[in-house]
Amino acid sequence: MKRNILITGGAGFIGSHVVRLFVNKYPDYNIVNLDKLTYAGNLANLKDVEDRPNYKFVKADIADLDDMRRIIVEYKIDGIIHLAAESHVDRSIKDPFTFARTNVMGTLALLQAAKEYWESLPERYDGKLFYHISTDEVYGALELTHPEGVPAPFTTKASSEDDMAYGTEFFVETTKYNPHSPYSASKASSDHFVRAYHDTYGMPTLVTNCSNNYGPYQFPEKLIPLFINNIRHGKPLPVYGKGENVRDWLFVEDHARAIDLIFHKGKEAETYNIGGFNEWKNIDLIKVIIKTVDRLLGNPEGSSEKLITYVTDRLGHDMRYAIDSRKLQSELGWEPSLQFEEGIEKTVRWYLDHQDWMDNITSGDYEKYYNNMYKI
Ligand code: NAD
Ligand code: DAU
Repeated sequence: MKRNILITGGAGFIGSHVVRLFVNKYPDYNIVNLDKLTYAGNLANLKDVEDRPNYKFVKADIADLDDMRRIIVEYKIDGIIHLAAESHVDRSIKDPFTFARTNVMGTLALLQAAKEYWESLPERYDGKLFYHISTDEVYGALELTHPEGVPAPFTTKASSEDDMAYGTEFFVETTKYNPHSPYSASKASSDHFVRAYHDTYGMPTLVTNCSNNYGPYQFPEKLIPLFINNIRHGKPLPVYGKGENVRDWLFVEDHARAIDLIFHKGKEAETYNIGGFNEWKNIDLIKVIIKTVDRLLGNPEGSSEKLITYVTDRLGHDMRYAIDSRKLQSELGWEPSLQFEEGIEKTVRWYLDHQDWMDNITSGDYEKYYNNMYKI
């Protein structure tokens, strides 16, 4: 079936995986990638699909309501997968206003533009969907009731036999929102607006809340790519606080697969949690990364542990996130496909094999040359 799908934030980390998956898997869909190309947007992430006939890039700011109206009408958009956002917690602590502008006002502008267009059509909302990608951080922080870890209560492909959970509670779809950082507060607000457009105007919407993603093309301000690159260059590894915070890691292509499934088969107005059932204390994860990079570079395994540098903790640092994604498993049959050991090996190899991609970012060349050369 022909469809015109708008994917926002497609030049970023997760968005580029979603665009690639849709462009390759659905030749009958027209995929419009709308992105402002902030520091986090990099069109080099999509080199392999940029010439496809079913792909179009549009540079625009989601907070510009007139532009959103124009673009949605021009491309006759009948489905939206909304990933564009300011996404880095540390930046939100320094500059909360940019997060409110993009994540809250930008999402609202996109919702309003879609509502106006879809309501103007004879079939109105039939066959339409506004799918909003959100985060587990809106639920707040869980306690570390078992600092040494207890056997994880769920079994999935992402877990290995000795997987541990660091607390008894998990985020479920009905967990009360309790965001702590300006980033998570802005995402929580945008989630509420999306649900309000369903409840008030009857717009078909859907929200998913996902745990920490890792994999190729992640901007090297985030823990995993930053540390891989620093190890390679023998630079310090800044561990916040004592490194005891816990995150639940999911390979980015598994997230993209979940988005595809939910976009096509998810129930309107529902919320689905997406997670890896794969909890790691930061310091343990960092040691796995160190070992993997050392081995692949031919250095004695663990020799880069000397680079670990404990630094002042992130303000308001959430202690533990852990997602229960059994609803998505039981209703739609999704589960993570990769064991963590396999995913991290694949990820480290990718960054080491794509040093040019990394160097273009750390030098700033990706903004000066690649993004600017692109015709828009
Ligand atoms: P990212 O920072 O890598 O990419 C964000 C993209 O949005 C960039 O391409 C950027 O240019 C674009 N963008 C920013 N402001 C814009 C604006 N005003 N108008 C248009 N485009 C704009 O982010 P990511 O890690 O890929 O996250 C994508 C989405 O998934 C976000 O909504 C984030 O909250 C959510 N999420 C991320 C994770 C994770 O672990 N990275 C986990 C759960 C949910
Ligand atoms: O849980 C989902 C969220 O995961 C997403 O919504 C966010 O967009 C995404 O950025 C991520 O948020 P985190 O804050 O968990 O990711 P980050 O990579 O910044 O940090 C992971 C953990 O590592 C966190 O506990 C902070 C710590 N950290 C991070 C950096 C960058 C360090 O100890 N040192 C660092 O230099």
